[in-house]
Amino acid sequence: MDNRPIGFFDSGLGGLTCIAQLMKCLPKERIIYFGDTARTPYGSKATSTIKTFSTQIADFLIQMNVKMIVIACNTVSSTCLDDLRERYPNTPILGIIKPAAQKVAKMCNKNNSIGIIGTKVTIKSKAFEELIHQLNSDLKLHSLACPALVPLIEEGIIENEIMDLTIKYYLDHFIAYHKIDTLVLGCTHYPLIRANIEKLYPDISIVNPSEEIVESIIDELSAKNLFAEKAEADNTFYASDLSENFVNMINRIFELSEFRVAFKNFDGNL
Ligand code: DGL
Repeated sequence: MDNRPIGFFDSGLGGLTCIAQLMKCLPKERIIYFGDTARTPYGSKATSTIKTFSTQIADFLIQMNVKMIVIACNTVSSTCLDDLRERYPNTPILGIIKPAAQKVAKMCNKNNSIGIIGTKVTIKSKAFEELIHQLNSDLKLHSLACPALVPLIEEGIIENEIMDLTIKYYLDHFIAYHKIDTLVLGCTHYPLIRANIEKLYPDISIVNPSEEIVESIIDELSAKNLFAEKAEADNTFYASDLSENFVNMINRIFELSEFRVAFKNFDGNL
């Protein structure tokens, strides 16, 4: 048993999409979340910059005495997972891409046409392709970077025509040309526009890494005997820039739950 919190981080509010599901399954666990809202988006930055930022945030979470770190960001998972594991060999660190790759390999066969969308960095890394093809090299994969989506989501521009037009700009041709029937939301921000995507392309099956990681977290806690006995304090959400939108999104995600939530503007040095 271990009552210490689980640390999550993302470039902004995308990683929150992993937490709502986790809290439903494991209400006794306590969360410390860090959203690097002052420096989002990461997905078009140089890998060296992303490594510096994610090391700073992971150092902060380790100082907060977390029992595990979940990289709730495909961009960081695709570029920094090995480095972070090397830096903190005694803390379990989970990336978000592998559980989604396992899901794709389980549900698809060579007759499917699988699309992977994500940030420029994630798509360029080919992390999804490598992990999926390790499990089944017959699967047909097509990938596409959609860099304008994250800034719109961070601004809360979701349920409107601008978002729908931006999705269509990226996906209409991609989906029609490759006859995509399965779409991997390879950025933790994208589940926040899942309803838009499903409305525009109702026949496509969606794979959501933010849902798939929950089982891996549970497996890891179970294997290492790290489940919490009781939630001892509030879930705490740090942001490097505590914007109104960040607070609103958290309240929206948790509005129907009984979880206690505290917000903190991060005023340390990153
Ligand atoms: N939510 C992140 C991801 O899963 C990062 C998006 C960004 O900052 O560009 O890739």
